[in-house]
Amino acid sequence: MTQTLTIRRPDDWHLHLRDGDMLRAVLPHTAQHFARAIIMPNLVPPVVTGAEAAAYRDRILAALPEGADFTPLMTLYLTEDTDPDDVAKAHAEGLIHAVKLYPAGATTNSASGVSDFSRVAAVLGRMAEIGLPLCTHGEVTDPAIDIFDREAVFIERVLDPIRKAHPELRVVMEHITTADAVDYVMASDRNLAATITTHHLVINRNHILAGGIKPHYYCLPVAKRETHRLALRRAATSGDARFFLGTDSAPHTDANKLLPCGCAGCFTAPNTMSILAEVFEQEAALDRLEAFASRNGPAFYGLPVNEDTLTLVRETPDFPGHINTPDGPVTVFDPAMPLHWTA
Ligand code: NCD
Ligand code: ZN
Repeated sequence: MTQTLTIRRPDDWHLHLRDGDMLRAVLPHTAQHFARAIIMPNLVPPVVTGAEAAAYRDRILAALPEGADFTPLMTLYLTEDTDPDDVAKAHAEGLIHAVKLYPAGATTNSASGVSDFSRVAAVLGRMAEIGLPLCTHGEVTDPAIDIFDREAVFIERVLDPIRKAHPELRVVMEHITTADAVDYVMASDRNLAATITTHHLVINRNHILAGGIKPHYYCLPVAKRETHRLALRRAATSGDARFFLGTDSAPHTDANKLLPCGCAGCFTAPNTMSILAEVFEQEAALDRLEAFASRNGPAFYGLPVNEDTLTLVRETPDFPGHINTPDGPVTVFDPAMPLHWTA
C-alpha cells in the first residue's frame, strides 16, 4: 500500500477569498497547500476594472501569513459595460488571467453580471484575439428552467453560441456538475476546459435533501443526481488535460448559511487535498491526482507547473468542524466519509 504521495504543488483554478476579516481568516487555509489560485471577482461591489483587480491583489498579498508562498491570479467580473481596452491592458500587464462571466442573478453577488450577451461581444472578441480565457458560471437564470437543468440549458443556449461566434475564445466551464458538461468538453477539440470542485466529486443531491435539509451542502451549481457525480469522477480521475481542479471554496458564515434563504457555497479549502486523495484512491487513480490538481490547470492557462512539491501521508487527518472568523464560524465541508490522507 502506498504510504506517501508526492506531487507537484497544486493550484486552485477557482477560489473565493472574499475581503477584509474573512479574507484574512480563509487565505491561510488555501496558501498552506496551493501555490496559486484563480481569484473570483464577485465581491460587493464586484472587481470590474484593472485598477480594482490590482487593489484587490494587493489586499490579498497583505493578508498572507508571514512566510507564505502564494500567488493570487486575478480575474475581472464581466459586465455589460466592461471596457475591452481596460481588459486588454490588465492582461498585457500580467495582472489578470481570466474574465469571469456570471449570468445576472445566477449565484452569490451576480447582480452586476450579464443579461444581454450581445452587449459583451466586443470584449469577448478582444479576449479571443489576445488569448485571455473566459471563465463561465454555466447556469441560465430563466425561472422557467428547472434548477437541475440550468447547466445543460446554458450550454445549449449561451455557451455554444458564444463559442461558435468566437471560435478562438478560450473558455473554462467552471465547477461543472453534469454529464452533459463532461460530454460537451470531451466533444471539443480545442480552446475548452472545465474545472471540477472537490465537493461535486463527493456529494449528490440526496446529500442535500434526503433525511433533512443540509444547508452546508448547498452550493451553486447545485449538486445533481448520482449518475452526474459518477461522470464527474470519471472525468477528474481520467488524467484528461481538459479537466482540472477548481475548488470553488466559498466561505459563508454559519449565520448566513442557516437562514430561511441561506447562502450558496461550500468551504473546502482546509480539507480539499485530503478529500481528493481519498476520491482518487477510491477510483484507483492516485497516480492521476497530480494531473488533475497540479498539471492540467497550468497547461491550459499557459503557466509553468510549480517547482515545489506537496507530500500526502497515509495518516488519518483531523479537521475542525468549523473555523472561527471575526464575522462568526464558517463550517468546513464534511465529506461524510472517513479520510486517510493528510496533506
Ligand atoms: C459562490 C459564492 O459564494 O461566491 N457560491 C457557490 O455556491 N459556489 C458563487 C459561485 O461560484 O457560484
Ligand atoms: Zn465560485
